[in-house]
Order: sequence, then C-alpha cells, then structure tokens
Amino acid sequence: MSKLKREKTIFICQNCGAESLRWAGRCPGCDAWNSLVEEKAPVASTKRTRPAFAAEAVALSRIQTDQALRIATVSPEFNRVLGGGIASGSVVLVAGDPGIGKSTLLLQEAAGLSRESFRVLYVTGEESAQQTKMRAERLGLISDHLYILPETELDGTLSAIERVQPQFVVVDSIQTLFSADLTSAPGSVSQVRECALQLIQVAKTRNLPVFLVGHVTKEGAVAGPKVLEHMVDALLLFEGDRDHFYRILRSVKNRFGSTREIGVFEMTEKGLRDVANPSLVFLTERRTEASGSAVVCSMEGTRPILVEVQALVSSSSYGLPQRTANGLDYKRVQMLLAVLEKRLGYHVAVMDVFVNAVGGLRIDETAADLGILASIASSMLNRVLDPQAILLGEVGLSGELRSVSQIDSRLSEAEKMGFKRAVIPVGNQKGITRQNRILISAVDSAEKALEVVLQ
Ligand SMILES: Nc1ncnc2c1ncn2[C@@H]1O[C@H](COP(=O)(O)OP(=O)(O)OP(=O)(O)O)[C@@H](O)[C@H]1O
Ligand SMILES: [Mg+2]
Ligand SMILES: [Zn+2]
Repeated sequence: MSKLKREKTIFICQNCGAESLRWAGRCPGCDAWNSLVEEKAPVASTKRTRPAFAAEAVALSRIQTDQALRIATVSPEFNRVLGGGIASGSVVLVAGDPGIGKSTLLLQEAAGLSRESFRVLYVTGEESAQQTKMRAERLGLISDHLYILPETELDGTLSAIERVQPQFVVVDSIQTLFSADLTSAPGSVSQVRECALQLIQVAKTRNLPVFLVGHVTKEGAVAGPKVLEHMVDALLLFEGDRDHFYRILRSVKNRFGSTREIGVFEMTEKGLRDVANPSLVFLTERRTEASGSAVVCSMEGTRPILVEVQALVSSSSYGLPQRTANGLDYKRVQMLLAVLEKRLGYHVAVMDVFVNAVGGLRIDETAADLGILASIASSMLNRVLDPQAILLGEVGLSGELRSVSQIDSRLSEAEKMGFKRAVIPVGNQKGITRQNRILISAVDSAEKALEVVLQ
C-alpha cells in the first residue's frame, strides 16, 4: 500500500511553532508579526512510525526512581540551580545572550565531570575543535575523558553518542544542529524541534543527561521556538550585564527542582568562578557617604542576598519627566513614586528618577519596596541613609508597611554582613525567633521608617 507523496508546504511561526496552511502577517498563535516562514511539511518519515519509547504501563509503586542518581558537578552554584546536581536522563536548555559565557560555563562543567572520570561528549557546532581546545587551554581544562565533536548534523551527533557512550552530553548549540531528513534551514522551528526531540529520546532511553545551549533573541526569548521550552526538563537563563563581571544563572523551569534558586558566578580570565557569598559582591562598591543608596535583602530561593539599590532624582529639564528602573520592576517603582507623592508629600512628579539594583541582579520581591522608596527619598532630599541599616518591608498604597516572608534568614544575613540596624514592618516583630545582635526598628509606615534612617 503506497501513499501518494506530495510536496506540501506549510507556514510555521518561528516564535511559537504554530502551523498554518496560509501565510499571514501576524501569527494566530502568539500574535507575533512577520514570524511565519514557509517550510516543507515534514514527510512522515519511516523512522517515526515506531514509538519513541517502547512504552509499557507500569504500576507506579514499581517504578524505580533514580533520585539518588544525581551527578554533582564541581560547581556548587551550578548544582544549586539544577536542584542539587544533574538529574539522570534530564534534558536542560541553557540560554543566554551572545557572548555571555554559555560555552565557557558548559565547557567548564563538562571538563569538571570528565576529570572525575565521567565520559563526556561536547558537540560544538559553533566553533571548531581547535577553538574549543584553545578555550579549554586558557581555562586550564585539559582532560582525557572529554571528547570534542565539531558537528552540526544530527545523525553524526547521534552516532557519536553511540560510539563514545558518554555519561554527559553538551550540544552547543541546538540552533546550529540540523537533521538531513528535513529541508528547512538550521535554526528553523522544524529543525530545532526535530533535533531536540531526537536528543530527548536518546536522553530518556539511555538515562543520559543532555545539556543544550540556546540563543536568545533581542526580545529576550529563547530563539526559535517556544516549543523548545516545553520539551526540555529545565530551562536555565544565563544573564548579567556586559559591564559587570557577575553572571547569574536562573532557572525559569525545572522539573527536578525549585525555580527560585539562582547561581552567581564571576567571569574572570580563567573562566567562571562560583560566588559563594553574593551579598559581599553586590555590596563591594557601595559608597556609604552617598545619598540615594539603600540596602535591601532579596530572597533568592533559600538564600537571602543583600543588594544595594541606588536612586538619582533630579529636576526634569524637559516637559516629560524621565523614569528608568534597572533590575527592578518598573510598575512597582511607579507605584512607590505615587506613594511618595501622595502620602509622604515628596514632589517627585516633576523630577527625573533613575533607580538601579546594583550588580546585575533582578529584584522582583516586594520586600524591597521600602529600600527603593527610601533611596528615592534620600536622593531627593540629598540626605544620606544610615549606612549601617538594612531596610525590609512591602509598602502599601496608603504608605503602610506590610510584613515580609522569612524575616529570620534576612536578619541573620544582614547581621553576618555587619549591619547594625534593621528597619522592619511592625507585623514582622512577632515572627522573629532567633536572637539578633542587630538593632531592630519596627515601624508601621514608610514615613516612620524614613525618620529612622534619614540622616
Ligand atoms: N581571552 C579572554 N580572556 C578573558 N575573558 C575572555 C577571553 N575570551 C573570552 N572571554 C570572556 O568570555 C566571554 C565569551 O564567552 P563564551 O564564548 O562562553 O560565550 P557564549 O555565550 O558561548 O557566546 P556565543 O553566544 O558567541 O556562543 C567573553 O564575553 C569574555 O567575557
Ligand atoms: Mg558559545
Ligand atoms: Zn506564533
């Protein structure tokens, strides 16, 4: 029985992977403009007809888990983000801006594992074997168990996995990999999806952890398909701004761990170094005598991190006052400005306001509200805030101070970092269970908090 084969083309959104028979200016799936690209409809290949996993229903109680089979890498920060090491058979996508250090990170982890006698295969489609060797030499990472494969073809990659029998695979990058079975260009949705699918099958059947490097578009999304995010077990974003040496590895999705944990690294000539005490690095360049500087504490997963928030307020020379917020939620900053204006009588409406979280960390917690508000007030009045104080508290619309979570860990981090005073919401006072050498000022409003810390 033979089916008539027709050359059929379909249009695939390069953003979300939605398929449609006709071209449209705007994707019906995700509303992106000009994202539909004509691709040959994948011919149902004979390979596909047999199921990926020879699936058989098994009683839940009889399923063997290899929870214990996590591989701890040489980097505690990396392990932390993964949820305690690399889970066996997991497929992890590591995405980030060009040049941020994705290859450096994964080559280091790969070499680290190979030095502990794991067989590791590093597939590089972006750089030659020589280039990778040169990077490895610069980073001081030479190892016999680390196999480098310069390859962009999926079949070549799969047969290398067959030959080398690795225990850990890195594919750098998924966008350069292509399957000769498909006619569409490398990096297109069909290619990325097909390559990822086949690698995932290999990972699951062999219990082999596979790390994929992915590019990020200008808009900050993982390049190519949104579908990739759904397919992988974990998506880690590698971030940081170019002007700083600090890099943050954040998990956006993780089937094997919390997505709240972050890993902090420092980019040096010798590669990426774990930053064991992030509070220290985010506070190193603080000028305590400057106005507009406040210290807040953000919980990143289980770890409290102290971060300096800086504000600069100046009278606006043009009609429309400027507002920028780096590393902070812009809407939240606007709300705090409204509270300052309406409830505390600061005339910020006519001022330009710039606020930054220093060091490249993104703070999303409302517990930072009070610090942000105080830094703006401090710059506006040109009065310094008590440099020995940290500020904790969510600010409500009427200027009241609302309690924050995990007060004990935040206070102990502040104490550890040598702070002498903590301004906290009254509501948190009862929740303090441990002894602190730090002076606690519990207040019920942002206004009273400012009275305590403005000097
Ligand atoms: N000789 C060097 N000395 C110190 N740092 C270097 C050196 N060469 C590269 N770097 C650092 O490594 C970074 C590039 O890292 P890497 O190639 O791992 O990034 P990537 O995310 O893989 O980039 P791409 O998207 O281009 O693949 C540079 O931005 C720089 O900070
Ligand atoms: Mg790279
Ligand atoms: Zn779309």
